[in-house]
Amino acid sequence: MSLILGIESSCDETAAALVTSDRRIVAQRVAGQEAAHRPYGGVVPEIAARAHVEILPDLVAEVLGEAGVRLAQVDAVAATAGPGLIGGVMVGLVAAKGLALSAGKPLVAVNHLEGHALSPLLIEPALAFPYLLLLVSGGHCQLLSVEGLGRYRRLATTIDDAAGEAFDKTAKLLGLGYPGGPAVERMAAQGDSGAVPLPRPLVGSRDPHFSFAGLKSAVLRARDSGRWRAEDIAASFQQAVVDCLVDRTGRALEAVPEARALVVAGGVAANGAIRSALTALAEARGLPFVAPPLWLCTDNAAMIAWAGALRFKAGLIDGLDAPARARWPLDPEAEKVRGAGVKA
Ligand code: KG4
Ligand code: ZN
Repeated sequence: MSLILGIESSCDETAAALVTSDRRIVAQRVAGQEAAHRPYGGVVPEIAARAHVEILPDLVAEVLGEAGVRLAQVDAVAATAGPGLIGGVMVGLVAAKGLALSAGKPLVAVNHLEGHALSPLLIEPALAFPYLLLLVSGGHCQLLSVEGLGRYRRLATTIDDAAGEAFDKTAKLLGLGYPGGPAVERMAAQGDSGAVPLPRPLVGSRDPHFSFAGLKSAVLRARDSGRWRAEDIAASFQQAVVDCLVDRTGRALEAVPEARALVVAGGVAANGAIRSALTALAEARGLPFVAPPLWLCTDNAAMIAWAGALRFKAGLIDGLDAPARARWPLDPEAEKVRGAGVKA
C-alpha cells in the first residue's frame, strides 16, 4: 500500500489530496476561484496562476495536518503537468518538485486528462477495462476508449468549442453569471426545450466528433430576434447539447463493442439532463453507466493522487526535469481533426 500526495492547478481550482493505492481518500481540499474570475465572465489565466501561488502552500499544509501525516511518510508526490493554463500548471508542478526534492520522494507528473479518465476506478472497484469515457468539461470534450493504465484511444474530440464552453458562452449571452453551466441548467428548468429551433451540429455524422460553435451562434440569433423567452432559449440549448452528446456517444459505442461500461467525467457531467440521457443510452445498449460523484467529476486533486498512485505502482515515476505542458494529448496517435480550436 502506498500513500500519494496529489496537487492540481491546471485551471481555476487549486487542490491537494492524500490518497492511498487501495482507494482511501485520506484527506482532500479544493479551493475554487470563482469570485476572482467572475468580474471578467471567465477564467483569466494570470489571475488563476497568482491565486494558485497564494492558496497552494496552505492547502498542502491543511491536507497533511488533517491526515496527521508528515511529508516524510508520503511515498510519492504527484502533480498535474498538463494540459491546462500553463502558468497554473507550472505553479503546481514546481511546488510538487520542491516537496519531492526536499523530502527525497519520487515525483509523478500526471496528465490531467488521465486523472479524469481513471477517476471512476477510485470509487468503483468493479469497473473493468476497457470502458468508454465521455469527458465533458469547460476545456475538453472527448470520447476515449480507456483500455488500461497509459492506454487511451481517442475516438473523438471537438472541432471547435468544448461542451462546458458552450454552456458558459450561452450563459453570457443570456446575461447569466459565471460559471455558466449551473445557471443555464437552473434557467432551463423554467423553459420549454422544444420552443426554439436550434441546430444539432454533426449529429448523424460518421466519426463521433463534436461541434458547438454553430449552436452558440444560433443562440445569439435567437436572443437577438426577440421572439423567445430566455428560459425557452436556455431549455432548447440544453436539449440540443443533450441530443449531440447522446448521438455522438452512441456512435462511439458502436466503434468500441468491447466496452464494458459507459463512463462520464468532467464538470458538465454535473448536469441532470445530461446524466439522465446518458443513463438511458447505456441502458438501451445493455451497459452499466458510471458517473463519479460531482466532487470527483469537477477538477480535484484526489483524481491526480489516484492516477499518481497507479503510475507509481507501475514504476512510472518522473525526473525533476519533467516539463509543464499547455498541450498534452492522451492519445498521441489520434488523428488530427479539422477546426481551428481543437483542444488537446
Ligand atoms: O471539469 P471542470 O470543473 O473544469 C474544467 O473545465 O476542466 O468543468 C467546468 C465546466 C464549466 O464550463 C461549467 O460551466 C460546466 O463545467 N458545468 C456545467 C454544469 N456545472 C458545471 N455545465 C452544464 N450543467 C451544469 N450543471
Ligand atoms: Zn478537468
